[in-house]
Amino acid sequence: MSTEESPRGRQMVEVKDLGQHEGTEVVVSGWVDQLRVHGKVAFVVVRDGTGYLQCVLVKRELPEEVWEAGIGLTQESSVEVTGTVRVEPRSPGGYELGLTGLELLGPSPEYPIQPKEHGPEFLLDHRHLWLRSSQQRAGLKVRSEVEQAALDFLYERDFVRIDTPILTGSIGEHAGTLFETDYFGQSAFLAQTGQLYAEAACPAFRNVFCFGPTFRAEKSKTRRHLTEFWMLEPEMAFVDSDGNMTFQEELVTAMVRWALERCRPELEYLERDLSKLEQVKPPFPRLSYTDAVELCRKKGSEVKWGEDLGAPDETLISEEFSLPVFIFNYPKKVKAFYMKENPENTDTVLCDDLLAPEGYGEIIGGSQREDDLDRLLARIQEENLPEEAYGWYLDLRRFGTFPHSGFGIGLERTVAWITGRRHIREMIPFPRLINRLYP
Ligand code: 4AD
Ligand code: MG
Repeated sequence: MSTEESPRGRQMVEVKDLGQHEGTEVVVSGWVDQLRVHGKVAFVVVRDGTGYLQCVLVKRELPEEVWEAGIGLTQESSVEVTGTVRVEPRSPGGYELGLTGLELLGPSPEYPIQPKEHGPEFLLDHRHLWLRSSQQRAGLKVRSEVEQAALDFLYERDFVRIDTPILTGSIGEHAGTLFETDYFGQSAFLAQTGQLYAEAACPAFRNVFCFGPTFRAEKSKTRRHLTEFWMLEPEMAFVDSDGNMTFQEELVTAMVRWALERCRPELEYLERDLSKLEQVKPPFPRLSYTDAVELCRKKGSEVKWGEDLGAPDETLISEEFSLPVFIFNYPKKVKAFYMKENPENTDTVLCDDLLAPEGYGEIIGGSQREDDLDRLLARIQEENLPEEAYGWYLDLRRFGTFPHSGFGIGLERTVAWITGRRHIREMIPFPRLINRLYP
């Protein structure tokens, strides 16, 4: 609701709607973003979550106590301001408020985050307050919009959302990065992926997806890793690896387009080079793993066929392209147990990683799934995974096995690329990092 009666009977409005109230007296509630006093005139910028509003206080036009309360305000105090809406082209939203009344709702003495440079650890320690800053608001708004873009894209294509468990008994990816917890005497793991459960829902609904937090006990402290991140995982029956990549490029393009349409002010505030995003459209270049290794070696990397591509290799590759680029068919040894063996080269699997441009690294991991019971069982054994935990998953190959493919797109990495922010820790409201569980 944008307009309602304030407790004292005047019209309470949101800053984004001020244009509808020009010339009238309104009440706006929010937090003090800035205060400047110039002799007998003061300017208070109030942020109400929908926008910023400059309030003008003129000493001789105000009762003494209102003027005094106004110039005594401190950063992030919550206030209710009353005044007349006026056009002011130099103001952020095109309007300002000629203040007539002011009520302090909640004081904010010595707000820790000041308009000056603070170190990253200090800001992360104060994440619960840092969320209010313009840069963080812009990044998180883009996150919310990009999330919605993906959900709409899948909804329009009749995908059914399957909510998958966080507490799991079967290891989803690999044993190395598990959070293990006691589950009434047995081991449970926090989900590394919802994929295996999404696969089980394909025969029920054909095309499905899950979306939620996933967990990796990553010991690495990099700007690309969180221990808790959000992953969107579509899973599609009767789609092969090529079709999987085609679907991925359409989804990524839709997310970027949506951000360009709906988050222009935020992207501009973050000084994102929009021309780079405007180029994003299918088809994205596709490079086999073998060609990717050759390209990296030509550019000075020592990577050998058979090894996983590291972050520096990914950067070397993405430098060559202005679009996101697919690397497909990696060696079986460096990929998860569920990926389908490539019939044309059984040392490789039918998979793809999508690397974002400008050095943002892998944003998608996807594959066609191994649909052959015996080969899947052999892979589970080779990886030393506990066979008994996969009985149900193997059933999917026992009862009406079917070709299928899917992928996971990491939300924070995708938003970091779209916003042009270096660190994915700023792309999630409350990041979980190796050394950080608070706030
Ligand atoms: O490549 P990954 O590990 O793939 C899977 O989990 C599959 N089960 C997905 C599927 O096929 N349904 O992870 C997918 C994506 C990565 O490309 C990356 O964007 C993100 O998840 N990701 C992380 N993001 C932040 N921090 C981490 N530690 C991440 N690990 C993976
Ligand atoms: Mg991956």
